Amino acid sequence: MSSSAENILVVDDDEAILSSLKMLLTRNGHGVYTCSSPSEAVDYVRANTPKLVLLDMNFGQSTNGEEGIALLRKVKVFQPNVPVILITGWGSIALAVEGMKCGAADFITKPWQNAVLLESIANSLKLTQSVHSFTNANRAELDKQFRLTSIIGESPKMLDVLRTVGRIARTSVPVLITGESGTGKELIAEAIHENSDRRGKPFVKVNLGGIASSLFESEMFGHKKGAFTDAKSDRVGRFEMANSGTIFLDEIGDLDLASQVKLLRVLQEHTFEVLGDSQTKRVDVRVVCATNRDLRAMVERGEFREDLYYRINLITIAVPPLRERQNDVTLLAKQFLANVCAEQRVSQQVMLSRLALEWLKKQPFAGNVRELKNLVERTVLLSGADTIEVEHLASNQVGIPKSAVDITINSPVLPTIDEMEKALILKAMDACNGNISQIARMLGLSRGALYRRFDKHGIPYEAKE
Ligand SMILES: Nc1ncnc2c1ncn2[C@@H]1O[C@H](COP(=O)(O)OP(=O)(O)OP(=O)(O)O)[C@@H](O)[C@H]1O
Ligand SMILES: [Mg+2]
Repeated sequence: MSSSAENILVVDDDEAILSSLKMLLTRNGHGVYTCSSPSEAVDYVRANTPKLVLLDMNFGQSTNGEEGIALLRKVKVFQPNVPVILITGWGSIALAVEGMKCGAADFITKPWQNAVLLESIANSLKLTQSVHSFTNANRAELDKQFRLTSIIGESPKMLDVLRTVGRIARTSVPVLITGESGTGKELIAEAIHENSDRRGKPFVKVNLGGIASSLFESEMFGHKKGAFTDAKSDRVGRFEMANSGTIFLDEIGDLDLASQVKLLRVLQEHTFEVLGDSQTKRVDVRVVCATNRDLRAMVERGEFREDLYYRINLITIAVPPLRERQNDVTLLAKQFLANVCAEQRVSQQVMLSRLALEWLKKQPFAGNVRELKNLVERTVLLSGADTIEVEHLASNQVGIPKSAVDITINSPVLPTIDEMEKALILKAMDACNGNISQIARMLGLSRGALYRRFDKHGIPYEAKE
């Protein structure tokens, strides 16, 4: 008999399911304890700490899952640190979502694929074991264990990000990376791949904002020649290309609702069909998503499916804006300076003056690291100076102020009227989430006048109402 801490507790009122799960788990080296009723399960977790709980949400005749949710809450009261994986029917995704809000670690839909279930269990166990790893690790300690060389930063918030990367990289749990534009989300996605067992396997990046809805399936799942009018030859989809590696779904917040459903299925079941081919294919990919939009708010507005949201963000990594890690500005600026000098074979003597570094730290950098990088590069190339001073940087700054109130008459450089106009339009776009009529109203412009200004400033827009 194994001790309770070695056991997976399986709760289901269907004896056939209990015994098949028991067999599957035992065969894979897990101790198993089974319960066929919620009350039995509560008694068990009151007295024992299993390593994981597998919980079927539908008991008896009741199909609304209330009993399952109530049981989950109780398990969480007695054993807050034990991961719980829910099993739900396809029709009851809402229930799974509810369960995730109550602290479940993951959910599996019935009928489940054994491989998917075992993977979810392995992930949850690895994550629980590593919760306390590297809590205080500094940059040097992290560098000893992980490949993070492309990522500069040692400010507390960045160290938090890097510790999380280290902790989760070797699982295959989906990760959602959030953060403003230019904060380094893509670098983090690459670091996750490079520090996983999938290193050396494909890392496939897909910019979902750039794929037309009508081409989504063909692009992601591939097509057979003749599957539709323009399908002149077979095409391999991105999921298949990423097989055994990582797929990076960038700008996930730009995905329309119809495509969201199609994505959900492959994330849920790890299977898909090539367009024009009825055969179901299996893939083994780790999914990393990124967005600079507020997905939570989009869920509330009904623009992003809640079930997909919970499917992609079992782990969230929030990359902080540059203004929250000012001490990294110096490190970043020096590195970008060295890089541009090396690339352009500029004299190695180029330096940033102390005042220039101080000035950089105080900039709002609405475009974050990308803006800092561009500014340093531009200044080195255009100023030709050996020592970069504040005025060199200031005269090359084209970044936009974060908002009109950031501008004071004392600031070293005043934005031009054009820059202000662009900044305001971008702000309004953010505030109205791209809704053209609303933006026009907010700015007191006709729609035509707004479109002309988009063109003038080269601001990409989507004509959505
Ligand atoms: N911590 C960092 N160390 C070194 N370079 C960085 C760091 N963060 C970002 N960069 C650089 O800044 C630029 C922007 O980074 P990246 O493309 O990863 O941002 P992003 O968050 O994906 O932006 P967007 O939301 O616009 O897609 C890249 O050139 C990247 O190499
Ligand atoms: Mg990006």
